[in-house]
Amino acid sequence: MHRITLINGDGIGPEICESVVRIIKSAGLEIDWDIQTAGADVIESEGTPLPQRVLNSVKQNKVALKAPVTTPIGKGFRSVNVALRKELDLYANLRPCKNLPGVKTRFDNVDLVVVRENTEDLYAGVEEQINSDTAHSIKIITRQASERICKFAFDYAVKNNRHEVCAVTKANIMKLSDGLFLEAFRTVAKDFPQIAAREILVDNLCMQLVQEPSRFDVLVLPNLYGDIVSDLTAGLIGGLGVAQGANIGDDCAVFEPVHGSAPDIKGQNKANPTALLLSAVEMLKYIGEETYADRIEAALFKTLSNGDKTQDLGGSLTTTEFTEKVIQNLV
Ligand code: NAI
Repeated sequence: MHRITLINGDGIGPEICESVVRIIKSAGLEIDWDIQTAGADVIESEGTPLPQRVLNSVKQNKVALKAPVTTPIGKGFRSVNVALRKELDLYANLRPCKNLPGVKTRFDNVDLVVVRENTEDLYAGVEEQINSDTAHSIKIITRQASERICKFAFDYAVKNNRHEVCAVTKANIMKLSDGLFLEAFRTVAKDFPQIAAREILVDNLCMQLVQEPSRFDVLVLPNLYGDIVSDLTAGLIGGLGVAQGANIGDDCAVFEPVHGSAPDIKGQNKANPTALLLSAVEMLKYIGEETYADRIEAALFKTLSNGDKTQDLGGSLTTTEFTEKVIQNLV
């Protein structure tokens, strides 16, 4: 039996986790879930939002399914999400973005993949207060991390029959840092002559994505641009409720949706579990359970195609009702 770390998260996390665990169990796959709490709820009892036991569990099990964890804005503890990715060296944040059956959006031909560098850039957490009126955030870009993420993007393109990788930067302004990322991209691209290599500035990319997203295939971006652009691309396919993701390193992988803990709908049985479910489907493929992954995905697609949806997609189902529909559609 697979032993997998399950980080329940907070906000809507526990609700969507319950849904996904039920669906996987109903599909007939027994998983030994190693449940690990993290976030604001454990600070008081353990003194940190990310206790060492959580990291140890992921290191041991190699695979985790993670629901969102709230990060308070401004002062306080460092983001659990950023820390987890850094501590486990989950350097690649993979966010495939494809239209879902039954979810009508402005475009019906979106099929792109965002590959976001996960360990450095302005998210390295190097900040200093110069005086009461000035604060600095340091943007860190290294050749090693940039080459590693670009190689991941090209490898992904080869393995998944993609034809192009596009590097997204603002190298015209940040000539040293983004310039280095671009240099790394060009170096790596030489090893993949079968994949087209393209370059674009992030502002132009955003404009083109909302005009004609089918112009793009695999995008590779430094951390901050990747974070923002992947929310934009989530919007192209129906919003955060359906956008899946994964954080992948050489030793372990943490599968989690793009969205956050959605405190505005917490505890209301309104959350859409689709993004976490699709992340879990990718996780099942990653651990070699393709048959279960395909069955669950087919049940989800059938449910959405039947017009059975949660409120964020214009439907009226609660999280529980939607979960039950997916289970009914498992064949
Ligand atoms: P959010 O993604 O939590 O919510 C944005 C909007 O989308 C809200 O209106 C929310 O109701 C809606 N939404 C999100 N997921 C949904 C779902 N599954 N079903 C239906 N509606 C959904 O973003 P926000 O409000 O900026 O962040 C809230 C907290 O989550 C913050 O503390 C943030 O730091 C944290 N966060 C955590 C992430 C993680 O754990 N990986 C990722 C992003 C944010």
